Amino acid sequence: MKSVITGSGIGLPKNVVRNDALAQIMDTSDEWIRTRSGIEQRYYADEGQGSAELGALAAENALGAAERKKEEIDAIIFATMTPNYYFPGNGPVLQAKMGFPESIPTFDIRQQCSGFLYGLDLADSLIKSGKYRRLLLVGAEVHTGFMPWQDGWENTIGGHVEITEEMRARNTAIRDRTVLFGDGAGAVVVEASDAGERGFIASKLFTNGSNIGALFVPGVGFHRRPYVTHDQIDNSDSIPVMDGRQVFKEAVSKMPEAVRAVAKTAGVTVDEIDVVLVHQANLRIIESVGKQLGLPAEKVPHNIERYGNTTAGTLPILYHECVADGRIRPGMLICFTALGSGLHWGAALYRT
Ligand code: ACO
Repeated sequence: MKSVITGSGIGLPKNVVRNDALAQIMDTSDEWIRTRSGIEQRYYADEGQGSAELGALAAENALGAAERKKEEIDAIIFATMTPNYYFPGNGPVLQAKMGFPESIPTFDIRQQCSGFLYGLDLADSLIKSGKYRRLLLVGAEVHTGFMPWQDGWENTIGGHVEITEEMRARNTAIRDRTVLFGDGAGAVVVEASDAGERGFIASKLFTNGSNIGALFVPGVGFHRRPYVTHDQIDNSDSIPVMDGRQVFKEAVSKMPEAVRAVAKTAGVTVDEIDVVLVHQANLRIIESVGKQLGLPAEKVPHNIERYGNTTAGTLPILYHECVADGRIRPGMLICFTALGSGLHWGAALYRT
C-alpha cells in the first residue's frame, strides 16, 4: 500500500506587496530584502480573509485537480500556526465553510514551517494504517495578523495613513521578521494506492524543544494568567521573536542532514533525487542546502521571490507550481524538506 498525491491546489489573497511598499512604513529597502532573503514581493490577505479561507480556496482547487468530490474524502488534516481562532482549529472552520459532511473528521496540527511536512507524514501513516483511504491535507497561513496594523500597515495594501516617526520606529524594530512573511495556502489530496511505484517512500522527522527561544511568540499563551493582557500587547509579546542567525545556521545544517538521512533509510543516493523541495524561508538557505547536497540549481526550485515565507503553505505551493510547469513529472524521485519553529525539521521522499 502506498500513499499518493492525486491533486494539488493553491489559494492566494489578491494584494501583492512589493518590498518598496514596506520601505514606506519602516527603515528597510528593496535592496536589503532581496540581497538578504531573495524576496521581491509577498501576498497580504484582506481583513476577514483568514488562513481557513485561503485553505478552503486551495482545497477546492486540489479536489478539482484530483477529480474528487467532498464526500469521497475520509478525513482532513489542516496545518497552520495562524488559525482563524485560538480554538477551535481551522479543521472545523474549513469543514463548515466547504460543506463537508460531519462524517469527515478533521485534525489540526501546527509545527509551523514544518507543518506541511509533518502533515504528509501523518497522512501517509493514517493511510498505511488502513483507517483512511483519502485525505485532504492543507497548509495555510495568514501572517499579517501578527503585524501592528495601527502603525500604518494599511498603506501596504493601498491605504493612505500618515506615518509618524513613532510608527516608523516601531515598524523598524520588528523589520527583521515582518519583511520575510507572506500569506498563502496550498493543499493536496493524498490517496491509498496499490498500483506501481508511485507514492511516499520514507520520512525522517525531528524535534528539538530546547531551542524554542530561537523562534516563538512570547505572549498570548496559557502559562500566563490571563493568557492575554494589555501589557503583553503593549510590549509586542504577541509578535514572534526570532534569532535569525541561529535559525539560519540550524536550517542550513539540519535540512541537508535530514535529506541524507531519509535517502539512506530509503536506500537511494542523494544524486538519485530529481527535485528537492526546500521550505521557502530565505533564498540563501535554499541555495546553501542545494550546494551542500551537491545538487545543481535546477534540482532545487524556489518561489520565495514571489511569496516570501508562507510557513505551512510554502511546500504545497511550490509542489503545485512545479507539477503545473513540468519541473516535477511522473516517475521522478522528489524530496520535501523543512525546518521551523519548535524546532521541528525533517525530510520525506516521494516517487511521483
Ligand atoms: N531591512 C534593513 N535592515 C535590516 C532588516 C530589514 N528588514 N532586518 C535587519 N536589518 C539589519 C539589522 O538590524 C542588522 O543591522 P546592524 O548590523 O546595524 O545591527 C543588519 O541588517 C544585519 O542583520 P542580520 O540579522 O545579521 O542579517 P542576516 O544577514 O542574518 O539576515 C535574516 C537576517 C534574513 C532574518 C536571516 O537571518 C534569516 O533568514 N534567518 C532565518 C529565518 C528563518 O529561516 N526562519 C525560520 C522559518 S520561520 C517559522 O518557522 C515560522
